[in-house]
Amino acid sequence: MKLKANIASMEAYVPGKTIPGAVKLSSNENPLGPSPKAVEAIRDALAGIHRYPDGASTTLKTTLARQWDVPIESILVANGSDEVFTLLAAAWIGPEENAIGIRETFSQYRYAVRLFGAEMREISLDAGSYDLEGMLGIIDRDTRMVFICNPNNPTGTYRTHEEIADFLNKVPRDVIVVLDEAYADFADETDFPDSRTLLKQYRNLVVTRTFSKIYGLAGLRVGYAIGNPELISGAERASMPFNVNNLAQAAALAALGDEEHRKATLKLVRTEKAFFSAELTDRGIFHYPTQANFVCFRLDTEISGLWEPIASRGIAIRDLKSFGLPRMARYTYGTRENNRRLLEILDEVTSG
Ligand SMILES: Cc1ncc(COP(=O)(O)O)c(C=O)c1O
Repeated sequence: MKLKANIASMEAYVPGKTIPGAVKLSSNENPLGPSPKAVEAIRDALAGIHRYPDGASTTLKTTLARQWDVPIESILVANGSDEVFTLLAAAWIGPEENAIGIRETFSQYRYAVRLFGAEMREISLDAGSYDLEGMLGIIDRDTRMVFICNPNNPTGTYRTHEEIADFLNKVPRDVIVVLDEAYADFADETDFPDSRTLLKQYRNLVVTRTFSKIYGLAGLRVGYAIGNPELISGAERASMPFNVNNLAQAAALAALGDEEHRKATLKLVRTEKAFFSAELTDRGIFHYPTQANFVCFRLDTEISGLWEPIASRGIAIRDLKSFGLPRMARYTYGTRENNRRLLEILDEVTSG
């Protein structure tokens, strides 16, 4: 038996960890829990789980299409945005071809591309942000796709509307640009990209979103993409027939209608971002300005040696070694109590 070389070269995904007794704030999940309306919808849907789901996720897609002001054919719904990336790569990249990305970012773009035997070409962040010029510089005639994580996981940094539009103007028209906006719901800068407008202007743009973060449904696995129908239908052909289950469809639909939960989440993140950033600054701890529900900060030592002492005191953070940033940590904003506790812990573990 011989394992295929592309599979052999793949590294296992390193998830955010926790330990018993610690509050898990290492995976950018919603500290307020799931949308209560989603939970209610799941209860109502339970009696129907002997049936296969609607393989076309029709109601969910229709609602999303309305929200994004696009035809239903422009929406792809999948088992998390992780699966969206895999379906896009399955349909649009082959062996001998390549995709362009960044090293210090979400790892599932790399996974999706390598799964189909293609090459993932990566460069480093430029001062913590996407190096769009650098990415343009390594595109060649075999490039089929570019991945941009905006805001970036794990730094929380972002590129503006103008910067992304300028990039799209320069990218060859036959290269698909995947703009992963998993955390865009949390962005508050006025020059953050308006992807609805960009989608109307660029036919090679695909925007991805998830129900795992602001809607609090990470465990159900629902993500989606918006793009021109040709790109979307290609990806859909690669999909398994019932990839989004009954409960996930019902919950996602209900969460879209739960403004109260969405607003409460946003309020918490924005308030805690201001609080936590000021506290880190007071302590002289470097951190990137963030547009997400997490913050990336640097300590003077490798986080791997501190992770356990920090978690055993009650808060599980994310060690960014697997992202190539061993002295940096990522912390998902929790409640004020959680955030205060982490600050106390940091004072303890970094003193002396
Ligand atoms: C940037 C980014 N994109 C996508 C995802 C995955 O989203 P989903 O849960 O929809 O697969 C994550 C999850 O952490 C993420 O950080």
